[in-house]
Amino acid sequence: MKDEDRMFLNLFGRHDWRLKGSMALGNWYKTKEILLKGPEWILKEISASGLRGRGGAGFPTGMKWGFMNKPSDGRPKYLVVNADEGEPGTCKDREIMRHDPHMLVEGCLVAGRAMGARAAYIYIRGEFYNEASNLQIAINEAYKAGFIGNNACGSGYDFDVYVHRGAGAYICGEETALIESLEGKQGKPRLKPPFPADVGVFGCPTTVANVETVAVAPGICRRGGEWFASFGRERNRGNKLFNISGQVNNPTTVEEEMSIPLKELIERHAGGVIGGWDNLLCVIPGGSSTPIIPRSVCDDVLMDFDALIQAQTGLGTAAIIVMNKQSDVIRCIARLIDFYKHESCGQCTPCREGCGWMKKVMDRFVTGDAEEREIDMLYELTKQIEGHTICALGDGAAWPVQGLIRHFRPVIVERMKQFEQSQARTAKM
Ligand SMILES: Cc1cc2nc3c(=O)[nH]c(=O)nc-3n(C[C@H](O)[C@H](O)[C@H](O)COP(=O)(O)O)c2cc1C
Ligand code: SF4
Repeated sequence: MKDEDRMFLNLFGRHDWRLKGSMALGNWYKTKEILLKGPEWILKEISASGLRGRGGAGFPTGMKWGFMNKPSDGRPKYLVVNADEGEPGTCKDREIMRHDPHMLVEGCLVAGRAMGARAAYIYIRGEFYNEASNLQIAINEAYKAGFIGNNACGSGYDFDVYVHRGAGAYICGEETALIESLEGKQGKPRLKPPFPADVGVFGCPTTVANVETVAVAPGICRRGGEWFASFGRERNRGNKLFNISGQVNNPTTVEEEMSIPLKELIERHAGGVIGGWDNLLCVIPGGSSTPIIPRSVCDDVLMDFDALIQAQTGLGTAAIIVMNKQSDVIRCIARLIDFYKHESCGQCTPCREGCGWMKKVMDRFVTGDAEEREIDMLYELTKQIEGHTICALGDGAAWPVQGLIRHFRPVIVERMKQFEQSQARTAKM
């Protein structure tokens, strides 16, 4: 994409991230005018932009924020910013908070205005110490400049911003677990309904939104929803941050147009696969919860919601994890299952028991100490977890295994044969 179309101008931390430097990059420009145009106007621009949530699920943002605009029953409304960023492979929100925290603070104000929120709570994962620190400095600067607080930007609108540091549990990224944690309880997901827009944090109407979703809102309002919608394909609009990690020459975070081909993203921005494109084995395209896709799919798949769904995976958090032919794909997936087992909050039996069970089987698949019929048993087990739990952690644990079985069954079978042969050799000795 062209440099003039970029929104994240300090992604690599090359410029001053404090108020003066941030304003020089265009943040806090005409914010008062945006606020004075009112919630309907902001919502109209966000809807026109086609922005879909950047936290993983991809729900249309304009519609979601619009759920907050019901006649007031006297309860205050809150914006909660999800800065928990626990999905393995994902490291985009932290770059915003570390290198461009004012973008998020201004985003909170604009998004908050769209919902009529009284305050924003930014729930940031505990390990992000530097990010929380920079964010707090930016908030203090914004208060001092009169941009937030009473009569924010001189608009007559009162809006506060608070930072709340979590303790580093993946499940606290799930929006209702996050709300529980913010209220000082254990981070365990709530059953829905009621949805947060009806009963959220402290019993009040709440919208939980991802850092990137919130951070792009002022830019969309300044440049217009139609400008944002000019990037990407129908239903998959806008600019997007992509993380590229794993076996590439230059792991990076980059802003690109939605619907960019995966191959172009890896080759142009991450220096290509280690050993060349022909050495590519597979890719996890959207953070650890999304199923892997083999090289044949990677050749021409586009990086957007619809193209990846069609490829039986998902855009998720747009965190691309590349594996080349030197990696042990069974071991990689087994490691992820270990993570999900560890992070399951334990409320639902299919997730609590299923993750442990999947881990045990996957560990044996790594060595090959298993029978071929167990592959279908494991697949069936993932189907018993998927869609049968309170939150989507269960789905996120089941999908990587499904992806492995879908595309790498011969590799699993081969591993079992090797194990059998090695056992037979040992027995002969
Ligand atoms: C287990 C789990 C972990 C999640 N972690 C995060 C996270 O770290 N950050 C995030 O923005 N969304 C996370 N989500 C998604 C949130 O529940 C929610 O959909 C998102 O914050 C909504 O923001 P958006 O509309 O801007 O995408 C997670 C969901 C689940 C099920
Ligand atoms: S799916 Fe797992 S993490 Fe989510 S509520 Fe159920 S047990 Fe907890």
